[in-house]
Amino acid sequence: MVRVLLLIPSRTYRTHDFMTAASRLEIEVVVGSEHRPALAGLMDGRHLRLDFENIDGSTERIVAFAQTRPLSAIIAVDDAGTLLAAAAARALGLPHNPVDAVEAARDKARMRERFARAGLLTPRFTTAAIDADAQTIAASVGYPCVIKPIDLSASQGVVKVDDAASFPLVFARVAAIVAACRPNGAPHSVLIEEFIAGEEVAVEGLLRGGELEVLAIFDKPDPLNGPFFEETIYVTPSRLSRERQAEIRATTARAARALGLTDGPIHAELRLNDRGTWMLEVAARSIGGLCSRTLRFGSCISLEELILRHAAGLPMPSHQREQAAAGVMMLPIRERGRLRAVEGQPEAKAIPGVEGLVITIPPGERLVPLPEGDRYLGFMFARAESPDAVEAALRHAHAQLRVVTDG
Ligand SMILES: Nc1ncnc2c1ncn2[C@@H]1O[C@H](COP(=O)(O)OP(=O)(O)OP(=O)(O)O)[C@@H](O)[C@H]1O
Ligand SMILES: [Mg+2]
Repeated sequence: MVRVLLLIPSRTYRTHDFMTAASRLEIEVVVGSEHRPALAGLMDGRHLRLDFENIDGSTERIVAFAQTRPLSAIIAVDDAGTLLAAAAARALGLPHNPVDAVEAARDKARMRERFARAGLLTPRFTTAAIDADAQTIAASVGYPCVIKPIDLSASQGVVKVDDAASFPLVFARVAAIVAACRPNGAPHSVLIEEFIAGEEVAVEGLLRGGELEVLAIFDKPDPLNGPFFEETIYVTPSRLSRERQAEIRATTARAARALGLTDGPIHAELRLNDRGTWMLEVAARSIGGLCSRTLRFGSCISLEELILRHAAGLPMPSHQREQAAAGVMMLPIRERGRLRAVEGQPEAKAIPGVEGLVITIPPGERLVPLPEGDRYLGFMFARAESPDAVEAALRHAHAQLRVVTDG
């Protein structure tokens, strides 16, 4: 019997897709989460309540559990559980990323140090405590620069600054976001780094015994020039030249090695310009939100299934990405307000190529745009014969949507 512990943070969209993949593989899933599940009675023996921040205590609980119900793998379905997954897997002698590598991947300052040491092109950077004197820092850094939290995601708190005069206000804004997200824990500092102009791509990959297999390269056709970095469209396969793509693969593999990551999914972001291929970051997890639904491999295998197979040591069937081009649009939140409705959904879904539209924020909830916001309005998916057609379908469909709010 293959039994896998899935670490599921309260704020994730991934549970359903992982559960579906596990049931297809006939894997028994034990859910590790920070709260009691809604249907606790039905989860008898298949739920572990764990504090993802308390690595030692939670590792002990997992080890004790595995004594009577052995585990084949521990998988963090999103960022929040990656450290605990690595620590508990180490304690149980299961294949996993080194804990130190996962720690470096979750700390953007340590990640920069490792990339720089490995000779990768990566932005020059410095760190500052959130209560440091912004005027002094403003005078010492180059422009444009980016101020960002050390360990948040979804572009929350990431802001470009063009000159010293505007630095203090932005610094205070990012500091407030960090303080609000980390009421009692460290680190209370931010990263300040050189802004790298250029096109951006995302790489989805799977590490197996230290070897990186690139599963997909996504173009991000909307320019990401700041001041905030709202992600919108991802399209694969990439339209970049073969040489550029080879460079992206090689750079991502070097970056994963520089961090010391060896096993499991990675999601990387790179920027390209005439100075070269810049490594922005590598996260030790798969693509976020519902975006993995753009990926299908071999005979309709999901990314979650590949991740489960790899982690549990099950055979890996052939898994070339499908022939069709595919893409997702993360629906941005442009204005504050309480969501009343997203109108135009039937019209958007009727655009040829559009295969799905999921609004992930329920009516009645508050919409908070970037940089304070930490989520998207929803996700829209498309498939077509070419990346250009996918991109056009997503743009056309998005134009049908109207977000109605109560001011
Ligand atoms: N130094 C930089 N130069 C140019 N653009 C940057 C830089 N740092 C961040 N960005 C832009 O901001 C985006 C978000 O930054 P970053 O990846 O560091 O934060 P994040 O919160 O981890 O985002 P996500 O979770 O979406 O990956 C990047 O994808 C990129 O578009
Ligand atoms: Mg990122």
